[in-house]
Amino acid sequence: MDRIYLDYAASTPIDKRVIDEMLPFFSTVFGNPSSMHYFGQKAEGAVELARQRIQNALNAQDYDVIFTSGGTESDNLALRGMALKERNERGSNRILISGVEHHAVLATAEQLKKYYGFELELLRVDVNGKLDISQFINTIDNNVAVVSVIYANNEIGTINPINEIAMICRDKEIPFHTDAVQAVAHLEINMSSNEIDLLSFGAHKFYGPKGVGALLKKKDIELLPQITGGMQERGSRAGTHNVPYIMGMVKALELVIDEREFDSTRLKILRDKLIEEVLKKIQGSKLTGDPVDRLPNHASFVIDGVNGNDLLIALDIAGFAVSSGSACKVGNPTPSDVLLAIGLEPALAMGSIRVTLGKTTTINEVNNFLSALAQVVDSIRKSKSGVL
Ligand SMILES: Cc1ncc(COP(=O)(O)O)c(C=O)c1O
Repeated sequence: MDRIYLDYAASTPIDKRVIDEMLPFFSTVFGNPSSMHYFGQKAEGAVELARQRIQNALNAQDYDVIFTSGGTESDNLALRGMALKERNERGSNRILISGVEHHAVLATAEQLKKYYGFELELLRVDVNGKLDISQFINTIDNNVAVVSVIYANNEIGTINPINEIAMICRDKEIPFHTDAVQAVAHLEINMSSNEIDLLSFGAHKFYGPKGVGALLKKKDIELLPQITGGMQERGSRAGTHNVPYIMGMVKALELVIDEREFDSTRLKILRDKLIEEVLKKIQGSKLTGDPVDRLPNHASFVIDGVNGNDLLIALDIAGFAVSSGSACKVGNPTPSDVLLAIGLEPALAMGSIRVTLGKTTTINEVNNFLSALAQVVDSIRKSKSGVL
């Protein structure tokens, strides 16, 4: 059976050109970048060039690039590193995050509340998952240590007005972090034309390797390191650099930016066709997330009377890989926090499905998926009503 992968928000295959870029750094240029000799300096030169290439790709000359093990670690470093530093220096004790954050942000903020005594507030979002700006303006004050709002949502694809949110924080002089793990592959990110202080991403969402990412940090901001030891990353994150993976991430980032316009235009057409057909063909289906301000490759729905995990398994058996809510939640039988935060009834929220397209997705794959989905939903409904 030919299997069809429609879960690119969970992960992407590594581009062949990225693998080629990585290979020499496993064997030829293998030194430890912290070593003083020739072998070490070769590796260090590559890492420093990689840093500059990231700054150039994102127009981030005013930012330090801190290499991490991925989106999760970048989010942890931003939240915990910032909150603890700010409380130490300014006595600020509140953390504001949106009600639709990925668990890498949410669980970190909850730990800061439970074990470090911070006050945590979840900011309201509208029915499409966008931040409620007026409630945010009324909530933020000088006692806030850090604000974190997701750039583009992994479960429902909604894109937040990040520059507007960053400007509100800048006016109040409160550090602002955004989780851009889903955004980097698809949206133009120009760090010289916004007020973001900290931005997280991870390479495996844009055809790079898993286990590597970065946190961009405005140069005039300091945070408390979460991994201590050597002085790598100017003391912000200790540990020997994963040189081949860093090189792969940089190449993947450059490629995804070069090819973004072409890919986005193509993906939007496929996405819109998919959304239109699902809403037309599947009775009781509803789009989740913003109909306009959404990631170009992202379609997400709830389907009345169908359990999302049952749907995922039945589609997998039929040869189609999709996700229910977010990949990190597989096996979790409770409705997703994100879907509850946008006001869905828990029973309806249980019927969520996310279909995310990628560079090699074709119209044929989308059409085959649409037929399979209609059949699978029909048979799940019939079996529930005892007809089968
Ligand atoms: C929005 C968002 N943040 C953070 C993460 C975690 O990133 P990583 O898998 O690189 O740790 C993900 C991954 O699904 C994500 O979608």
